[in-house]
Amino acid sequence: MAITAETKVCCIIGDPVSHSLSPTMHNAAFQELGLDYVYLAFQVTSSQLREVMDGVRGLGIRGMNVTVPHKERCVRFLDKVDATAKEVGAVNTILNDSGKLFGYNTDGMGAYSALREAGVDPADKKIVMIGAGGASRSIAYTLAPRARMMVILNRTAARASRLAKEISARSKSVRGLTLDSLASKASLEEADLVINATSVGMRPAIDETPVDASLINPDATVFDIVYNPVETKFLREARSKGARTIDGVGMLVHQGAEAFRMWTGREPPLATMRKAVLSRLGGPTD
Ligand code: ATR
Repeated sequence: MAITAETKVCCIIGDPVSHSLSPTMHNAAFQELGLDYVYLAFQVTSSQLREVMDGVRGLGIRGMNVTVPHKERCVRFLDKVDATAKEVGAVNTILNDSGKLFGYNTDGMGAYSALREAGVDPADKKIVMIGAGGASRSIAYTLAPRARMMVILNRTAARASRLAKEISARSKSVRGLTLDSLASKASLEEADLVINATSVGMRPAIDETPVDASLINPDATVFDIVYNPVETKFLREARSKGARTIDGVGMLVHQGAEAFRMWTGREPPLATMRKAVLSRLGGPTD
């Protein structure tokens, strides 16, 4: 696709950002639909965020993704933040509408869509989610109100209880527990859906798992938000126990697809996006 004087620009900011798969994924999607858009990556520090947002307004950059460590801090530089992103306290997607910057958080919906795409409906599920950090917050806010019950397990107990308390008013049943407690073992054994929402197992620490897979019920579905490697050790162990597994590529694609829709007003080409991501991760692309 030729870059012209009319090409619209989208980008991602982060620190570091060079590992990001979003440029590959979005540029493949723009190309597939013949859209005159380009997607770039910029490494920026926290102290540059104000001038970055002014630059987005000044240059008319259409859309932006925000990744670690800027998801929380960027909120203060935006004109408006949608209800979900406000509750979660973090933004991963920005839309520039005529100089006004609107912030969204598409991570939770990305996880939800990835589950639905895999044929899993959280509505009737006992969900055990491991982690209470940024990614877990987005997922908990989206899934807990839709689930039969959710148990949040975290290494640091206080963070698990705090998150459980925050979402309790809108959920049927939610509890926060310490990862290594007896109650946490019992909840894992009874879960229908186990989600690793921590970064444990991500390259290069590919031999780590968030919990012992012997605790996983073979009838459960196990979803890992880590996508590099595509099959984490946790998923591999859960699969060998007989559990159904869902890798993190679907969530990456769907959180990006939500952003793509906002920026372009077009339906994202999901298969193209997935293929582009998998070609970078070295997994099978069909
Ligand atoms: P992110 O935005 O990726 O979620 P984060 O906000 O730093 O990052 O949260 C990381 C999550 O992974 C937390 O739930 C963290 O547990 P703590 O709250 O106890 O720190 C969890 N985590 C990270 N490394 C871990 C490990 N080795 N074992 C268990 N949990 C871990």
